[in-house]
Amino acid sequence: MPDLQHCIIVGGSHAGAQVAASLRQEGWEDGITMISTESVLPYHRPPLSKGFLHGGKSDDELLIRPADFYTKQGIEVRLNTRVTRVDPVSRMLSCDNGAQLAYSHLVLATGADVRRLSVPGSELPGVCYLRGRDDVMAIRRHLRPGGHAVIVGGGYIGLETAASLRKQGMEVTVLEAQSRVLQRVTAAQVSEFYTRVHREEGVEILLEASIARIAGGDAVEAVVLSDGRILPADLVVVGIGVLANVELARQMGLETDNGIRVDEHARTALDDVYAVGDCSLHYNPYYDTWVRLESVQNATDQARTAALAISGKPSSYKALPWFWSDQYDLKLQIAGLSSGYDQVVIRGDSRRGRGFSAFYLREGRLLAVDAVNRPKEFTFTKRFLAEGRSADPQRLADESVDFKACFS
Ligand code: APR
Repeated sequence: MPDLQHCIIVGGSHAGAQVAASLRQEGWEDGITMISTESVLPYHRPPLSKGFLHGGKSDDELLIRPADFYTKQGIEVRLNTRVTRVDPVSRMLSCDNGAQLAYSHLVLATGADVRRLSVPGSELPGVCYLRGRDDVMAIRRHLRPGGHAVIVGGGYIGLETAASLRKQGMEVTVLEAQSRVLQRVTAAQVSEFYTRVHREEGVEILLEASIARIAGGDAVEAVVLSDGRILPADLVVVGIGVLANVELARQMGLETDNGIRVDEHARTALDDVYAVGDCSLHYNPYYDTWVRLESVQNATDQARTAALAISGKPSSYKALPWFWSDQYDLKLQIAGLSSGYDQVVIRGDSRRGRGFSAFYLREGRLLAVDAVNRPKEFTFTKRFLAEGRSADPQRLADESVDFKACFS
């Protein structure tokens, strides 16, 4: 084991960048190296499918911290570099450019990568994904106002991209394999709401759609469905979920399943090895369950937890998860985890207009809220969930009842 104190962070996105910054905040004075496969410094991912895709945000505006932050803080950043192997016994790691580095502490912030489409034609130019900045640059190259875009997947990525491309004058079709969009993450009422709004905005949504192949010559020309329908396409954007990057952890002998298992201090089963953000699987005390979360909130909060532990000031991670999605004029804010719900209560009218909240309950206990254009209901529910307060479903459903009076 090397006698130096040097923390190496593998991954340069929200989680990795926050570990580096928090280490300095917590007084870690030794070396910090952040290694990233990206070609640019850590940037905000949520705007990629929104402001950055519109072209309304510049590269600099996308950065989580300005470039000189890393130099001023003495954080070494190695871009365009992939860690290929870690030896947890000698505490040495190898990179694809031949570099070998020693660490005393290691943080895996390796994130997640897109699931790829595997039908014939998937490799054609113009078939794009949306996870990183370079993906958006590729989409922009194929974006033609008046042209056709086919989006594969009706999750948040697919729907946000549909809204952005529609705003830029493309004819947009969304293909969703399931019987409703957002099936993995929301109640039927919320799915129906988003389907209606997208259709009002001129987006075509095809449900239970199955792709047979993608046709084209030098570039994509059409998407062919299994039922024989042919959809012309100048651009295809695939948003069919992500898979956690756990290969390195597995190679190190760590237990990996749907993520790298960590304790309440973001520690893995190996001494001084941590995992944070999208790649990690942790126990959430609010929901008494193991979760792998894909969110900025989890990435930053868990990163702070790891930095505290590395700096010798451990503090258990306990955060109520929250998320958001922006589409058109709709600001969806989500607090809590809805999985396992057996009751949904709608406050407002999800069948008309553009604002309502959906509350998820299980055996009478409030689990989560999806609040569309209702920031106050989101903020209060988030707080009340964290405080463990209970809600009266009948009152929640009645808009004449003061919102705070729905909780006890
Ligand atoms: N054809 C059509 N639809 C498909 C296919 C397919 N072959 N395979 C999957 N889908 C659909 C799923 O049914 C689901 O509705 O694609 C959708 C994918 O949704 P998510 O799994 O939520 O993933 P995605 O929208 O890609 O988002 C990935 O990035 O920003 C985050 O919040 C986002 O955590 C999420 C992640």
